[in-house]
Amino acid sequence: MPIGCTLPPKKTSKELIESSYKAEAFGFNTVGWTAFIFGLIVVFCMPELPRYLFYINQYLREIELPRNKKKNMKNSPQRRSFFKKSIVLAGAFSSGSLFNQLYAGDFEKKANLYKDLSPAEIASNEDYWSLIQQAYPASSSPVLNLNNGGVSPSPQLVLDAVDRYDKMANMAPSYYMWRILDQGREPLREKLALLGGCDPEEIAINRNATEALNTIIHGLDLNRGDEVIGSIQDYPNMMNAWKQRALREGIVYKQLSFDFPIEDDQTIVDMYRQAISSKTKIIHVTHVINWVGQIMPVKKICQMAHEKGIEVIVDGAHSFGLLDFNIPDLEADYFGTSLHKYLSAPIGTGMMWIKKEHIAKVWPLLCDADPVRDDIRKFETLGTRSFPLEQGIGEAINFHNGIGKKRKEERARYLKNYWAERALKIPGVNIHTSLKPAYSCAIAGVSIDGMTPRVLESTLLKTYKIHTSPISYENINVVRVSPHVYTRPTDLDRLVNALEELAKK
Ligand SMILES: Cc1ncc(COP(=O)(O)O)c(C=O)c1O
Repeated sequence: MPIGCTLPPKKTSKELIESSYKAEAFGFNTVGWTAFIFGLIVVFCMPELPRYLFYINQYLREIELPRNKKKNMKNSPQRRSFFKKSIVLAGAFSSGSLFNQLYAGDFEKKANLYKDLSPAEIASNEDYWSLIQQAYPASSSPVLNLNNGGVSPSPQLVLDAVDRYDKMANMAPSYYMWRILDQGREPLREKLALLGGCDPEEIAINRNATEALNTIIHGLDLNRGDEVIGSIQDYPNMMNAWKQRALREGIVYKQLSFDFPIEDDQTIVDMYRQAISSKTKIIHVTHVINWVGQIMPVKKICQMAHEKGIEVIVDGAHSFGLLDFNIPDLEADYFGTSLHKYLSAPIGTGMMWIKKEHIAKVWPLLCDADPVRDDIRKFETLGTRSFPLEQGIGEAINFHNGIGKKRKEERARYLKNYWAERALKIPGVNIHTSLKPAYSCAIAGVSIDGMTPRVLESTLLKTYKIHTSPISYENINVVRVSPHVYTRPTDLDRLVNALEELAKK
């Protein structure tokens, strides 16, 4: 016995026999048992260990442990109360998000600085918007992007989030994607629902507006002779979907033609009304017409259609993430949108909304094990796709909420008016979009007398490094200009100067 050790108290021979019997019976003493149980936990949990570490990491972020040393991550009580307020008010900020780490403090400061300004007033406050401009790498693009209506770029934090998720996914794709990133889908559904002011059980996440709306168009049971009313100013992918159904199944697809701009809701509603017959089952309407930016009176069309038992599908590709509205307030039956336009979510993300009572009757485009269930998730059997992109949507929503729906809408409208009102004063330059707030927001069409849209667009690009979208389609001949919240008035001065020079030639 080494010096300094205390001898254990002596046991009687009976106690010795009993304890050795117990130990033999169970194979262990107390220490052995503890080690055995711990070993079991480790063995069973080992495959799930990275997942638990991920959760622990998320949890630590959630409770905002002050472990990030970034300068702008000061965990002031004021900042914490801003987070809490934001979560309660708008569900805007998932705490621990990149947005919170990198931008929330600055957004809060600016918001406080201008808290007395209305969204319309703040729309022209360049100090406020400079913060948003800095967040977008597109602000420093060598080509001025004025085709945000086509696809919008993302702010840096969304790109970083996708990059982070992508790196994680590529460690062991099927494991990290299906077992870890996939866990983010339900919280994302809730976040999208909060943004759309609707029930999460009515939201399906997919890859773009084409997929969302084609799912609805092809998923509805219609019989030969049933009529659908749309317009030739709807989006080609959706018109083609209806034309395919007409060709294949004998439904009748009627298309109206509008002469935009129209500054009277009733004229538009009446055109749909007059096209209705006893065979009409569906009206398909585009919320913001992509060609010239006309805002359609969707709610009034829906109310009129419902009086006649007709359902309405709304293409919200250019309205969601830009206009301040809640999806149910449109009173439509179906709504589909991209998220990679004005929401600035990762490119290749979209969303579908179906009124709860209709979900069961819509067939999924990509089949599900139970295609007639009334669970919106039946539309998400999409196979392998990019979960990093999908999860990046969350940060885009954080950023969007950091600005605020109404402020964003007002800024986009201000920017459109900023250039369009100046352009209108140039002889030979025409604007093909209403500048009244009710009828347009970010998008407007422009033309120059004697110049085709194609020539105007290519000259703007080649000579002035300004990217726009040329449209020569049916009764529309314009160059479409669509700024975004990161666009500066000085960028638009560049456009106006270019139009002035070209109009003089
Ligand atoms: C009105 C409208 N609907 C749908 C789409 C299709 O969007 P996506 O390419 O995301 O499917 C577009 C695209 O620009 C559009 O302008």
